[in-house]
Amino acid sequence: MNLPFDIDRAMELAINEARRGAGFVSPNPLVGCVILDSKGEELSRGFHPKLGKDHAEVDALKKIKDKKLLEGAHMVVTLEPCAHDGRTPSCANAIKELPLASVTYGLLDPNPLTAGKGAQIISASGIHCQEYLGDKIPLEELAEQFLINQRMDRAFISLKVASSIDGQMALSDGSSKWITSEQSRALAHHLRATHDGILVGRKTFEVDNPSLNVRHDEFPDKRNKVIVLDPKGKTKNLIEGSNIHKNHPPEDIFIVTEESVEFKGMNNITCSLDESGTFKLSELTNRFLEFGIHSVLVEGGALVHSSFLLQGCWDRLHLFMAPKIFGSTNGISWSQEFGISNMTEACELSWPRSTMVGSDLYYSARNLMAGKNQESSD
Ligand SMILES: NC(=O)c1ccc[n+]([C@@H]2O[C@H](COP(=O)([O-])OP(=O)(O)OC[C@H]3O[C@@H](n4cnc5c(N)ncnc54)[C@H](OP(=O)(O)O)[C@@H]3O)[C@@H](O)[C@H]2O)c1
Repeated sequence: MNLPFDIDRAMELAINEARRGAGFVSPNPLVGCVILDSKGEELSRGFHPKLGKDHAEVDALKKIKDKKLLEGAHMVVTLEPCAHDGRTPSCANAIKELPLASVTYGLLDPNPLTAGKGAQIISASGIHCQEYLGDKIPLEELAEQFLINQRMDRAFISLKVASSIDGQMALSDGSSKWITSEQSRALAHHLRATHDGILVGRKTFEVDNPSLNVRHDEFPDKRNKVIVLDPKGKTKNLIEGSNIHKNHPPEDIFIVTEESVEFKGMNNITCSLDESGTFKLSELTNRFLEFGIHSVLVEGGALVHSSFLLQGCWDRLHLFMAPKIFGSTNGISWSQEFGISNMTEACELSWPRSTMVGSDLYYSARNLMAGKNQESSD
């Protein structure tokens, strides 16, 4: 169908609109929508603002007071409209009643409750319903946490590192405060707000006594979960009274151990170890979903990051590099336990993006292999 407007531009607007929900919608995806009249003039924009609140399509529709304008109008939405009644009623069922000429959706919804059914419901009503054929990467990035949850049945894993420009995240005496600028740390708090859980290793917990909460003006009431990797339960008598304990209700604290340990009202997740004594991280990331943890920001330290790298069990890297060189004699590299013996074994990244944040270089990219197993079996 020939659309009377620039579909790429409309999809870009819908994607930008969707981002306004970041930090408020988990486990739902970020979704944005633009509605244009029959001549291709924009009528409204909408987004999914919060879990349980209107979906983007409904948000955009509610902003159009004169419903006559919907005659022959066009809807552009980043994700296939949902087919099922969930926390909110089915969007496809609402759309099919409208006098629209077309609906263009960015990605098929992999949720089996919708997966193609939303598009079918709309098409069956006579509205031209089509999948967007332009650049899919921004759409995949937008909904990446949800897509990995649905396609892989596990939590989405981001690695966050603050390092010197030569990749050292701490000195061998344990000091690591502060490597990066205040602006980078503010962005790091924004990242925390867009993940359900923040994960650290037992040593970082002991050395840094971090709070691991969200301190950002845009998210004054944000509650996040905290996860500590502690295979032998060494933190049993240390968690109480720590900054984590002071800043989070016990039900939001999760200690991962090999065998079950009683942590005074806090949660204990057990996970098996592999032959090297490391948690089987794919088992752990699957288990996170049981506890309502759909996305995790892994904040270190080096042994934690290395183990996620070694097991290929991560999706996105957020790297903040300060304009400083620590050197490797006394530095701890964030990938220190990860090594390859030939170039073909390198862990490759895709969709790279970089920008300056204050005086630091902020680099973000996807693990090239993220979600690949599932894609090849689709
Ligand atoms: N710059 C930054 O962004 C940043 C961020 C965080 C931390 N740091 C710094 O990093 C340093 C700590 O790093 P680190 O490498 O020494 O320690 P770490 O990674 O914080 O903790 C290591 C310990 O956690 C447990 N652990 C971690 N990964 C595991 C896995 N996959 N399976 C099982 N157990 C696991 C083990 O506990 P057990 O020993 O009990 O077996 C391990 O010895 C500190 O100096 C901290 O300040 C820097």
